[in-house]
Amino acid sequence: MERKCFSFLISSLILCLVFTPSFCLNDSKQKEKRAVFFLFGDSLLDAGNNNYINTTTLDQANFWPYGETYFKVPTGRFCDGRLLSDFIAEYANLPLIPPVLQPGKSNFYYGANFASAGAGALVETFQGAVINLKTQLKYFMKIKARLRHYLGYIKAETTLAKGVYLFSIGTNDYMNPFLTNSSVLDHYSKSQYVGMVIGNLSTALMEIYKSGGRKFGFLNLGDLGCLPGLRILIPENKSGCLEEVTMLAKLHNKALAKLLLTLESHLVGFKYSYYNFNDDLRDRTIRPSRYGFREGKAACCGTGKYRGVFSCGGRRLVQEFQLCEHPKQYVFWDSYHLTETANEQLADQMWKGSRYIVGPYNLKQLFQDL
Ligand SMILES: *[C@@H]1O[C@H](CO)[C@@H](O)[C@H](O)[C@H]1NC(C)=O
Ligand SMILES: *[C@@H]1O[C@H](CO)[C@@H](O)[C@H](O)[C@H]1NC(C)=O
Ligand SMILES: *[C@@H]1O[C@H](CO)[C@@H](O)[C@H](O)[C@H]1NC(C)=O
Ligand SMILES: *[C@@H]1O[C@H](CO)[C@@H](O)[C@H](O)[C@H]1NC(C)=O
Ligand SMILES: *[C@@H]1O[C@H](CO)[C@@H](O)[C@H](O)[C@H]1NC(C)=O
Repeated sequence: MERKCFSFLISSLILCLVFTPSFCLNDSKQKEKRAVFFLFGDSLLDAGNNNYINTTTLDQANFWPYGETYFKVPTGRFCDGRLLSDFIAEYANLPLIPPVLQPGKSNFYYGANFASAGAGALVETFQGAVINLKTQLKYFMKIKARLRHYLGYIKAETTLAKGVYLFSIGTNDYMNPFLTNSSVLDHYSKSQYVGMVIGNLSTALMEIYKSGGRKFGFLNLGDLGCLPGLRILIPENKSGCLEEVTMLAKLHNKALAKLLLTLESHLVGFKYSYYNFNDDLRDRTIRPSRYGFREGKAACCGTGKYRGVFSCGGRRLVQEFQLCEHPKQYVFWDSYHLTETANEQLADQMWKGSRYIVGPYNLKQLFQDL
């Protein structure tokens, strides 16, 4: 027993001298110690990168009424207020994580947001209008080089290893064939297509792992066919959800869960949090009142049936739009995105939910494991 303690002390001392990990610092310093936060993927996490790329308003939300509830100005977030990642940053005691393309921004001490609305894991997804996952990775490599420059090699390595890497990706890969005239699903079977999406995500994860990343967070996909913007694609005389898209999302979720188990067993130190976004969102669309909402199916902002026509703000293909008075009462903000209130509820679950909904770690555990 004593010898064990002693050798633990010695090895801790050596570790402290070599790496200065947080447990070597005293309490007050430890409190200042925060994990960096990196965000990848799509509009669920994009805090404004698409404001700075050559794209169309289909992939932008930098106009009223986006942002009306919280920021009071449009920021580029596809929401009336804050995104899931904004709440997570707050819970982790971090400031809002800036978009990597924000002009004039050069320090990314607390992390960076690489997400781009419309982006998928496949480069073909809304190609030319978004920052695809591969390109997001390139930006990450640049930030990594910068971290090394101002922290030094060793501190940068520890920072990257303690950082949390959150992904929301796939939705656009599966919506793209239904929203554009792409015939990709005539050429690939559903499982082949899902395999490509998961394969490309896996490549990205391996690259981050090689760069020192160890702690990864994921949301699975909702029943995509039940988004207001996809419900309207079903024939006029039918109701319900567009099952073909939902089916792809289901296949994806299974494949993602399997991929993460595989990575965990093959990559030393790989830790992850898999949030069952699908269950939590479905429950709110079916039983909105249980969660304090009045409306679980139709969007607050948009036009047509379920306000599913993607016209919120009147700057896209259709100019007409209606806006609800109380976004708080809605699960969906626009045709494809959630309200701030829904985001906050789901972020709470991602952060501290039980193992039934998020596991093997929740984000709080990932962040606290320094
Ligand atoms: C802990 O660190 C703080 C700030 O660096 C310092 O003021 C304080 O004296 C330290 N406390 C101990 C117990 O070492
Ligand atoms: C943006 O895209 C449009 C249309 O594709 C093109 O005409 C224009 O030159 C592009 N602008 C920049 C700055 O790349
Ligand atoms: C999709 O393709 C069909 C048949 O090729 C064509 O009639 C239709 O206009 C196209 N729609 C769009 C949005 O490109
Ligand atoms: C990545 O996606 C491309 C299509 O964009 C596909 O050809 C390729 O096979 C995918 N890679 C993996 C590893 O699945
Ligand atoms: C719904 O519309 C389709 C084609 O437009 C038609 O074949 C079908 O009979 C209709 N069903 C009902 C219940 O009206």
